[in-house]
Amino acid sequence: MSPLDSRPTPEEFNIPVVGRIYLNGEMVDPREARVSVFDRGFVFGDGIYEVIPAFGGRAFRVSQHLDRLAASLAAVDLADPLTRVEWTGAFDRLLAQEHGVDQYIYLQVTRGVAPRDHSYPVNARPTVVAYAQRLVSVPDSVLEDGVDAVTADDIRWSRCDIKTVSLLANVVLRQYANERGAVEAILLRDGHVTEGAASNIFIVNEGVLLTPPKGRHILPGITRDLVLELAARHGLPHAEAQITDAALRGADEVWMTSSTKEIVPIRRVDGLRVGGGKARPVFARMLELYRRYKEDCRAGRAG
Ligand code: PDD
Repeated sequence: MSPLDSRPTPEEFNIPVVGRIYLNGEMVDPREARVSVFDRGFVFGDGIYEVIPAFGGRAFRVSQHLDRLAASLAAVDLADPLTRVEWTGAFDRLLAQEHGVDQYIYLQVTRGVAPRDHSYPVNARPTVVAYAQRLVSVPDSVLEDGVDAVTADDIRWSRCDIKTVSLLANVVLRQYANERGAVEAILLRDGHVTEGAASNIFIVNEGVLLTPPKGRHILPGITRDLVLELAARHGLPHAEAQITDAALRGADEVWMTSSTKEIVPIRRVDGLRVGGGKARPVFARMLELYRRYKEDCRAGRAG
């Protein structure tokens, strides 16, 4: 009996990882995957991550995700440890382990193992982890009904454009929402909406789709960009503009977007019905466009 046989399976660990995981250039059993307690990702949250959905075995908007990864790494002076060809090769290997199901890749690059000192280490090698998980899509009933959100002060730092694994504030904010029966916290900074704890926020006001402009206070979401791209391509009125707290509360529609949840309508903000509980025609149209784009990606007609 191998020593592994007596250990919990990934399912018993509640790790819904598909097959093997990529760790520093090798494909390893998730039960065997080990990172040092001296890794700066563990000690300082000194690392960058990405979440990339994949449909029909094809990573979705992969070049945009790799561009954002490169920007995040550069912002914290980390060299990209892999070339684009190496990244996409690793994704293909991960995704090929399970055919026919939607998946997403989680990847993380940390500054590596070093004695604990805030200053950057001189010779550390980055730690690179990537794995695939099954992507469970949001049920139609939820897309029909919408979800609840609450507002919260955006207590995060001033570089929210960097996709760092230092997510303590996001974790606390999401929990704050959950404890109030909501699925997401809509964050407000100086009276303006920034984004959700793990999503971007859109509103519809008098038929115009609005989302806050990019900058250091929001993550430049890949789903956000695609929604804006689809709005432009299909002639839906839209703009990137500041959204005040009052505009949020007076909106006809409010949505959240992310790679794993795609586009989800928000039914109530702080317990008050969005748009008086009326239909969401702009959401319905965007969902249709988004789904069509996804099918094009699945069939290899779009990236
Ligand atoms: N989070 N803003 C924040 C703070 C996020 O964490 C995310 C996504 C987004 C949406 O970005 P995108 O459309 O590129 O997924 C915006 C991921 C999914 C996560 O942490 O799991």
